Order: sequence, then structure tokens, then C-alpha cells
Amino acid sequence: MRLDQVKTIGIMGGGVMGGGIAQIMAVAGYDVIVRDLTHELVEVTRDAVFEGRWGMKRAVERGKLSFDQCTEAIDRISFTLAPRDLRDADLIIEAVPEKLDLKQQVFAELDTLIKPEAIFTTNTSGFPVADIARDVSEGRRPLFAGMHYSNPVPTMKMCEVIYTPRTSQETIDTVKGVAEKAGRAVSMVKDAPGSYGFVMNRVFAAAKREADLIVEAGLATREDIDRAMMTGRNWPAAFYGQRGGIGKQW
Ligand SMILES: NC(=O)c1ccc[n+]([C@@H]2O[C@H](COP(=O)([O-])OP(=O)(O)OC[C@H]3O[C@@H](n4cnc5c(N)ncnc54)[C@H](O)[C@@H]3O)[C@@H](O)[C@H]2O)c1
Repeated sequence: MRLDQVKTIGIMGGGVMGGGIAQIMAVAGYDVIVRDLTHELVEVTRDAVFEGRWGMKRAVERGKLSFDQCTEAIDRISFTLAPRDLRDADLIIEAVPEKLDLKQQVFAELDTLIKPEAIFTTNTSGFPVADIARDVSEGRRPLFAGMHYSNPVPTMKMCEVIYTPRTSQETIDTVKGVAEKAGRAVSMVKDAPGSYGFVMNRVFAAAKREADLIVEAGLATREDIDRAMMTGRNWPAAFYGQRGGIGKQW
């Protein structure tokens, strides 16, 4: 599937990431259909996308989006409980919880439902993409890649594009192109069997391991480390700070 052929994006799983990805794709001009498990879960995602802290309404208030862009993007997003409603999607982005067997199951089911030329991508935080693609048909393997976004998606510009030895060059070009059309900076990463994480999470985890060693050795407190990295290196988020790692500002 070439970039210019991608019109409709199917998102498996709303939630924190699926909602954010739906939002940026609709703003980029794609028709988006999001599948989740219950009406209640759909409502939570819909609310986050339209009214939430990083949602479209706030984007208009902050001058990031015009009112017309916002209403057009809202019209392009729909929600469903039925996986088969994604059957005409040109590109799937999977954002279900980080469980390998769940992701394998989701793709095995989608493989039978979705048109054979559609591209499949996963927003896994770190499972090897080839492991997630384990149960799809031979024909889908060249169409399988990773698209790893950063939270909150509407404000964090990075998208790592992960490719396996089986991913076709056309798929790589299309996935990269879609991410760029949605305003992302793209880093390309080779899939690595037996490891967990791509660039963002592996580098962050390595730095966090070092910070933990410094604390364990009694050389500096957690607060001292957060302060050093945030004011000395301009890291925007703390290792140990409050609010789930988003640190207080000095
Ligand atoms: N939250 C982050 O900071 C972050 C950042 C990058 C990548 N990720 C990755 O993104 C993925 C999703 O994470 P999240 O934080 O958005 O999780 P989340 O729990 O907020 O959202 C997951 C959604 O998937 C739905 N779901 C579960 N099973 C499903 C199924 N079979 N079909 C359709 N929907 C289903 C859930 O109901 C839920 O709404 C994970 O793989 C995670 O590792 C998360």
C-alpha cells in the first residue's frame, strides 16, 4: 500500500494512546475508526479526544488548531465495538494493553477480517514486532511494522518506526509517510528479537538504572538526581518526581 492510497486508519484500542493517535490522524486528514470493548470505554476515549487536557477543544483554545480544523477532525473520527467495522481500513494501528499474547490474538483475528493489502502496525512499548506478528499470514508479514508513539501523543512529536527483516520497503515508506503527515518526527529502528524496547525506552531505562545505582550507593537523593537532570540537562520529566514520573519543575 502506497502512502497516497492510505485514506482510512483503524485503531485497535482507544485508551490513552489509541485516543491520542486517533486525534492526530484525524487532524492530519485521515478517516479514523477506533475499536474498543465497551460503550463506556469508548465514551472515556471520546471524552479525552474532544474535551481532555490534550484534546481538540483545548488545542483550539491554545491556538494550535483552528475551529474549522477541529470540527472537521471530529467528523472524521468514529468509534465501534465490532472489529469487522475496521475491515476497509488501509492501515491498522494497534494500541491494546501491553500483553504479548493479547496483541498476537488481536492481529490473528484482524488478519482474517481486514483486506489483505492493509498495513498492520503496533504501538507496543517494546515487544519485538516479529513476535507480535507471529500468527499473521505469510502475505501480511511484508505489511507489518511498529509505530511507537510517545505520551501524550498530541504534544509529543516522536514516532519510532520499527521494521523487521520481512517488512517491505513500500510498507516502511508508507508508515513513515503517515507518521510524518501527522506531524511526527520519525526515527527508524530495526526490530531486535529477544530484547524489549526501542530507542526511547531503552535509553531512558539505561539512564534510570544508573540513577538507581547512584541512589543505592548513597551518593545523591532522588530529588537531587531529578534536580540535576532537569536543570542541568533540561530533561523535561523526572525519574522519581510526582505525577507518574512527570516531575515538579525547578
Ligand atoms: N501510556 C503510555 O505512556 C504509552 C506510551 C507508548 C506506548 N504505549 C503502549 O500503547 C499500548 C496501549 O497503552 P495505553 O497506555 O494506551 O493503554 P490503555 O489501557 O489506556 O488503553 C488500551 C485500550 O485497549 C482496549 N482494549 C483491550 N483489549 C482490546 C481488544 N481486544 N480490542 C480493542 N481494544 C481493546 C482497552 O479497553 C483500553 O481502552 C500498550 O502497548 C503500551 O505499552 C503506551
